[in-house]
Amino acid sequence: MKKPVSRVLIINDEPLVLKEFVKGLNAAARSLDNPLGIAFSGVTTAREALAAIEEDGDLQAVVVDDKLYTLNQKSHKKEMSALELVQRVTRFRPELDVYILIAQEHEDEIVDALFAEAVDGYFYREERDYRGIYRILNAQVQERSRTPFYDQLKNYVWMAKDSWHTPGHSSGESLRGSPWVNDFYDFMGEHIFDADLSVSVKMLDSLMEPTGVIAEAQTIAAKAFGARRTFFATNGTSTSNKVIFQTLLAPGEKLLLDRNCHKSVHHGVVLSGGHPIYLDSSINAKYSLYGPVPKKTILSAIRRHPDAQAIILTSCTYDGLRYDLAPIVEAAHAKGIKVIVDEAWYGFARFHPAFRPTALEAGADYATQSTHKVLSAFSQASMIHVNDPGFNEHLFRENFNMHTSTSPQYSMIASLDVARKQAVMEGYKLLSRTLALSQELRAQINSTGVFRVLELDQLLPEEVRRDNILLDPTKVTVDISTCGYTVEDLQRELFDRYNIQVEKSTFNTLTLLLTIGTTRSKVSRLYDALMRIAREGRAPRRLYRFPEIPGFTRLRYLPRDAFYCGGELVPLVDEKDNIRRDLLDRACADQIVPYPPGIPVLVPGQVITREIVHYLVGLLRSQKRVELHGIVYDGYLPCLRVLKPAEERGLRRIG
Ligand SMILES: Cc1ncc(COP(=O)(O)O)c(C=O)c1O
Repeated sequence: MKKPVSRVLIINDEPLVLKEFVKGLNAAARSLDNPLGIAFSGVTTAREALAAIEEDGDLQAVVVDDKLYTLNQKSHKKEMSALELVQRVTRFRPELDVYILIAQEHEDEIVDALFAEAVDGYFYREERDYRGIYRILNAQVQERSRTPFYDQLKNYVWMAKDSWHTPGHSSGESLRGSPWVNDFYDFMGEHIFDADLSVSVKMLDSLMEPTGVIAEAQTIAAKAFGARRTFFATNGTSTSNKVIFQTLLAPGEKLLLDRNCHKSVHHGVVLSGGHPIYLDSSINAKYSLYGPVPKKTILSAIRRHPDAQAIILTSCTYDGLRYDLAPIVEAAHAKGIKVIVDEAWYGFARFHPAFRPTALEAGADYATQSTHKVLSAFSQASMIHVNDPGFNEHLFRENFNMHTSTSPQYSMIASLDVARKQAVMEGYKLLSRTLALSQELRAQINSTGVFRVLELDQLLPEEVRRDNILLDPTKVTVDISTCGYTVEDLQRELFDRYNIQVEKSTFNTLTLLLTIGTTRSKVSRLYDALMRIAREGRAPRRLYRFPEIPGFTRLRYLPRDAFYCGGELVPLVDEKDNIRRDLLDRACADQIVPYPPGIPVLVPGQVITREIVHYLVGLLRSQKRVELHGIVYDGYLPCLRVLKPAEERGLRRIG
């Protein structure tokens, strides 16, 4: 098994003192227990220190001498003080532990100012207590690398207690001896079953009322992600979003949301009974990509709806477009509106400066993250981070418990604990590698001469060009329009012939997702496949483009009120294939979502127009297979569920 390396950097501008310190500390590390491979090195200038922090992914802590450049101000004019250096370090890599070496006689304003920077501790330099310093640093790095829940789960499994509780497979006993299903046991592996336990095991705490190892793991995660509170969720960010809505919105209260939000957000609107104010996303028609909502639209919605309880935005988007969140948060907070950011695709961002600021760093009150999508957690493992100063924990807990299974998957909770540990201990290093691979892959794809990676400039819809939108380079969108394949054929070719499965597509693009699990071999195989396809020299095909989604019409009733009406089914077309007139101006009871792109054309309570029916009928008639969620078939007839006139009369109109 690979052993960890944990480097600690000492920064002191007096070479002799530095040498003595590094030597003394390394001697202490050698003579004492050192499970994390702690090793000390030193530099004499702030510039070298910053370079080391940037280059050395194994660095876990820095120790800065408080007298840095105060002794010899003149010769170091262009250098920075200990205080500035600490600020730069914590801004660049907030996960690092920062310690100060202070001179006893110096305990003054410098030290006070350094403490205001939330450093992790200090040592008196003149004591030269190398073993003491080593012990403290070792304990601190061990504390950050602790996984309280995972450790306890392992302990419990090794205790090998007899199970008289759920789950029914009873540590896999029901499968192991079976001639019919023992292959499942063998395929999945014994620990999947051993670690599949239940709330009956008290020493594993309760996700519904954590006071033990789950509470501890969540507290460590909150520190790691820069949140006041963090909650582990085992039903995906789909559920995390719904929990927050039900906490913040009472029925009828307003929520500002991007129309292109994930479907869980739209479902959350129905469940909470909220009054949604939809904000139209920008569109890059050339590539059928839906981008961020223009800043102008957001700020104007905030001005027009100061009574909204919350706004939710997705950042980054599926295609990697990141909002400039700080001014939006500021405008929302000025009106007392809470800001929720769906960071389903951005859970790693805290651990590399290239991706920051995160939503919380930009001032958001809530961030939801699909840890499983972009870090090393099992599918469905998600985190809810809270920085809301008015957080109502009781209400949140009630809603969290309403949505959470009473039988959560314990390996999933353990995977959140482990994913956090990995992000803190080696996230910077792994993300640096991912960024380098992304640059390599982009260059290689472009070198095929046929496939072309779309950079920020090509991805940005016109309406958001001046909104300071940034691109997360780990999402690589490739223009395939000149390769001679349709996007479906290309995906099939990549899958069947080259064993490659991509993340998603539009009619003329493919999107590849790089994560900390992307390897150079995978990059080479993808490049090789694309190069071979490019060399086939096929003539470009005509590609079928989806029509643009019609603009949002009018919301006549609250989505929840409309959804819970029984309604009636009305076909989209009559026997002669003409659009049914009696559908027009009716209120829809369901959410109708063509996939792709996954944006609702209709939500419950929305008024149906001719344009919308035309659009839906067009999709149904097109050669291209599109999933149309929400359409009901009455025999062969595709229908919409709409409110009956009597039902409409009984509901309160909102528009
Ligand atoms: C923007 C966004 N939010 C939320 C989700 C739901 O996340 P999960 O799959 O963790 O439930 C997704 C999933 O694709 C998403 O794209």
